[in-house]
Order: sequence, then C-alpha cells, then structure tokens
Amino acid sequence: MRAIIYRRYGGPEVLEATELERPTAGPGQVLVKVRATSVNAADYRLMRADPFLVRLFNGWLRPKSRQVLGMDVAGVVEAVGSGVTKFQVGDEVFGETPMKSQGAFAEYAVADARALAKKPARLRFEEAAAVPLAAVTALQGLRHLGKVGPGQRVLIQGAGGGVGLFAVQIAAALGAQVTAVCGPKSVALVRSLGVTDVIDYTQRDFTKDGKQYEVIVAVNGYRALSEYRRCLVPGGRYVMVGGTGRQLFETLLLGWLVFAGSGRTAAALTIDEAKREGDMAQLAAWLEAGAVRAVIDREVELEKVAEAIRYVEGGHVSGKVVLRVAGA
Ligand SMILES: NC(=O)c1ccc[n+]([C@@H]2O[C@H](COP(=O)([O-])OP(=O)(O)OC[C@H]3O[C@@H](n4cnc5c(N)ncnc54)[C@H](OP(=O)(O)O)[C@@H]3O)[C@@H](O)[C@H]2O)c1
Repeated sequence: MRAIIYRRYGGPEVLEATELERPTAGPGQVLVKVRATSVNAADYRLMRADPFLVRLFNGWLRPKSRQVLGMDVAGVVEAVGSGVTKFQVGDEVFGETPMKSQGAFAEYAVADARALAKKPARLRFEEAAAVPLAAVTALQGLRHLGKVGPGQRVLIQGAGGGVGLFAVQIAAALGAQVTAVCGPKSVALVRSLGVTDVIDYTQRDFTKDGKQYEVIVAVNGYRALSEYRRCLVPGGRYVMVGGTGRQLFETLLLGWLVFAGSGRTAAALTIDEAKREGDMAQLAAWLEAGAVRAVIDREVELEKVAEAIRYVEGGHVSGKVVLRVAGA
C-alpha cells in the first residue's frame, strides 16, 4: 500500500512516499481502508521528537514503532480482528489510530474497535476525519476535567484552532454560556457557530475586563497561572489542554501552589482512554443531529502532507487541515 513515512526525526522534509505491506487487524482491532485523515499537533511533535520524551517510546535515535503518522482516520472497514462484533466489513467508520502502531497517512490503517464509531451518514469522509482527536480532546477537557454543565460561564482560549472550534460547540451543546477568545481571522467563523461573546485577543484582553468564569479551557494563548486564577469564580476550574512545554511544566508543578487556598483548581488534560468509546458515541450523535460540525480550514491530497503540516505548524489555522487519500 501507499504510505507516507519518516525514517529520521526532523521537519516536514523528512516525510517521504513509499510502498509498505498492508497491516492486519489483531484481536479487538479493525482494518480500515483510509478515505481521509487530518493533521494534528501530535503528528508534528512525533515527527520532530519534540518534546524530547518522544524518543523514549518511539525510538531514541530514529523513529521505530510509529513511522507512519496520522492519528485521525475516516474510511471503510476492510477486515475485523477476532472478538470484534461492533463493526462489519463495509461499515463507514471514523476514529483514532493507536499511538503504539502505524497511523493513517496511508491507504490502510489499523485501529482499536473501541476507538472507532460509525460515521454519521450526513458527514463526508473528509469531515469525519477532522473530528476524532480534536473533538475527543475538547470533550474530555470540558466534560471530564472542566465538569461543564448547563448555565455555566465557560471561556475557551484558542477558539479558532482544531480543538478550540470543537470546544466552543461542545460547551454550547453542554448548555454553557460560551466566551471564545481567538485572533481576528477567526472571529466571524467562531460567531457563526452560535457563540455570542467572541473576544479578538488583538483588541481586548480577557484577563483585564473584570469578568469571571466557572471554567477556563486554554487550548492556546499562554497566560500566567495567576491571570487564569483571577478570571475564575470561587470553585472555578482552569483546564490546560495545549501549550508549550514550559506552560505544562508550570501547570503541573506550580499549579497547586499558585491556586492553593484560592478555592479554584488547575489541571492539565491527559486523554482518558477508558472514556474514549463513550465520547466517540456522544460526538457521533451530536454530529448526526447537527449540534456539532467539523470546521475545515483546507483539504489537500495526502501527497501534500509536508505542505499541510508546515501550514498547521504556523499556529494560525481556522479549523482542521484534512488529507484526502485518493484512489482508496
Ligand atoms: N492534552 C491533550 O491531550 C491534547 C490533545 C490534542 C491537542 N493538544 C494540544 O492543543 C493545542 C492546540 O491544538 P490544535 O489542534 O487546536 O491546534 P491548531 O489547530 O494548530 O490551533 C491553534 C490555534 O491557536 C490559536 N492561537 C494562537 N495563539 C493564540 C493566542 N495568543 N490566543 C488565542 N489563540 C491563539 C490560533 O488562532 P489565531 O490564528 O486566531 O491566533 C489557532 O487557531 C496544541 O498545543 C496541542 O498539542 C493537547
């Protein structure tokens, strides 16, 4: 099968097209004929081995266990492994490939059945491929860590990106009053998703307007921990989803200290695998009902993956960048 691989760590120039043997579905797994995939930060972090810790599980000097990138997958079930009853050959599915094996920048990919859901009929494969990693991240940050419920005031920082655009829609679907913070390019887009309070961070500083929230989800746009604390009501929760290594270090090591005695909490999201299957089912239902939609910045052929990653790494996308797998 056709696949995009990388044999050494580095920038997008390390990606190359090649022919690989088609993978097979193990117990509990599904082989998917890939129709579309999308670019996530996880892809270029693995590609660059940045953070350095990537080398601990993916090969010290060069990538070993995962040479085919691509977390998200949307496609058609080609074969099922033993014990899989949830899917049949021919089903249209979407979901995530496991980090420990090859990804979906290829004609075929294997995924755990529990990480897949049936593709809602109203979605194109390209739209479905934009969903899994970004939307599960947003949902887990909001619901499991942020404990967002109806009527709560929720601020999403970094609302114009892959995770952020799902976060604003999911927070609204959970019944929250949503305030979105994004750059000028994404203001109209975010407003079109039904968000009434959109803050253009080049015009207004949300940490200085005296407003407080029950939950702040920071996807991007890094502020001091003390500023987030000031913008939370007593009992409020700061959820860090994305950020620099320094930001993560500060939240994990200093978060408890900065927030101590304030009656507010700070936490950094790590994906809870046990909740993934239920989360995918919830997302599929919202997508089918039209309560949440995939926002795509651009769609390109898989062969243009290096260009696509360069664009996403620039840090100012408005939605997801999708890769079509032609000929699949
Ligand atoms: N914890 C986890 O499990 C997990 C899972 C998935 C992703 N993540 C992390 O989440 C982060 C975002 O991922 P993504 O896929 O959404 O990235 P993305 O699609 O590249 O989006 C980045 C967004 O950040 C916005 N941004 C940049 N600077 C900003 C600022 N100062 N204030 C507000 N917004 C700003 C950009 O919007 P403008 O152009 O409008 O500035 C852009 O829309 C990454 O760091 C990723 O590693 C974490």
